[in-house]
Amino acid sequence: MADWVRACACDDIEDEDLIRWDHAGRTYAIYKAEDGFYCTDGMCTHEEEHLEEGLLTGHVIECPLHQGRFDIRTGEVISPPPFVDLNTYPVKAEGGQVYVKV
Ligand code: FES
Repeated sequence: MADWVRACACDDIEDEDLIRWDHAGRTYAIYKAEDGFYCTDGMCTHEEEHLEEGLLTGHVIECPLHQGRFDIRTGEVISPPPFVDLNTYPVKAEGGQVYVKV
């Protein structure tokens, strides 16, 4: 069963930005978009590159290595070279803290 896990404080992430979050041997990316928080796998599905240094524009994260792009709401690939979608995870903000269901 998936559990809600506290990941960070809401203030740990700048507006329109993301951070890397490592938990239980896996790595994630947590985003602060205009309409709230989102979480996806941290690693690009193309090659071994973490998305933490990527550029977030609206709901689109661009991988820093080859500029592949994904929709952070669904994990869907928007532009190649990646062709495999990212996994996404439910996120909630409560009491100034961000929780992810993993
Ligand atoms: S590693 Fe992300 S687009 Fe190539």
